[in-house]
Amino acid sequence: MRVAVQGAGIIGLSIAWRALSAGLDVTVHDDNPARGASNVAAGMLAPVAEAYFGEADLLRLSLASAARWPEFAAGLGEVGYRDDGTLLVGRTGDDLRELARLFQLYADWRLPAEKVDPRALEPALTPRLRGGLLTPGDHQVDPRRVLAALRERVPVSATPPGKVDVTVVATGAWTGQPRGSAIGLPGGGAVVGLPVRPVHGEVLRLRGEPSIRHVVRGYIDGKYVYIVPRKDGEVVVGATTAERGFSTRVTAEGVRDLLDTAIEVLPELADYELVEARAGLRPGTPDNAPLIGRLDPRTIVSTGHYRHGVLLAPITAEVVTSLLLDREPSVDLAPFAPGRFS
Ligand code: GLY
Repeated sequence: MRVAVQGAGIIGLSIAWRALSAGLDVTVHDDNPARGASNVAAGMLAPVAEAYFGEADLLRLSLASAARWPEFAAGLGEVGYRDDGTLLVGRTGDDLRELARLFQLYADWRLPAEKVDPRALEPALTPRLRGGLLTPGDHQVDPRRVLAALRERVPVSATPPGKVDVTVVATGAWTGQPRGSAIGLPGGGAVVGLPVRPVHGEVLRLRGEPSIRHVVRGYIDGKYVYIVPRKDGEVVVGATTAERGFSTRVTAEGVRDLLDTAIEVLPELADYELVEARAGLRPGTPDNAPLIGRLDPRTIVSTGHYRHGVLLAPITAEVVTSLLLDREPSVDLAPFAPGRFS
């Protein structure tokens, strides 16, 4: 069976890798591969810290994918997989109330989380913090290394697919756009009518000698920031959230707010080199959960992963490969049916 995957982001490339391993004839089509949201993403693998009220189906999918990440990463070589856990920290009374609300949610869902003194775990954090939670199962990977490793393992073409048996649409934020849309995907890639929209997020990359090892998520005076330290000295700081259409402009205000909040949490960042400021477009959906499933006998959709594309790559690749092979997926895909909003 010949399969064309449209879109060479982390979702499309991961599906192609798994489908090739299962013996299918797969090519990924994209005229600007690995340059979308997954190239900007920080790479947090955080099913607990990203869990949110009303998103139980998404949580189940996230937990299933997090459990698959160690093996997925091992198959790709050195991709910066790091299992040091995540610290959520707060400063003001309101920040601590937000952490308490999240702690209760995690307890209700029996997710691993504990109250901690953040500076007992990370002495470099500001002494002005007044509380914290540790989610020990929330890890990280370097998405750029993952993309590079995947591209070595799957064929990617800049030209449109010829005749194929099945097309997998993995075009992220551009999925709902008419043919010939912003990224000019060969063959269009558009499934008009699917409710996927771009959600702008600015992300910074700094370089220094990070003395923290946990991913840190700061709730500081109503502002939110995450700080992701890599072993190679890179520190990723993110992210803003805004609805701005397909613009990937980086704003002065976005950079200022991220830096202010991140330096407030981890003062040593003030002395780091600021290497990059980029904006990516998260593929958002009305219920924040992805669209994964068969649209018609020759089209499978795998898009709308919103904030969770990196985390959800392994389980998405697995279940889409099952669909391609006409096998029962290992998780119930009904909550993620592409047609659930119509
Ligand atoms: N998952 C991180 C973000 O969307 O910014």
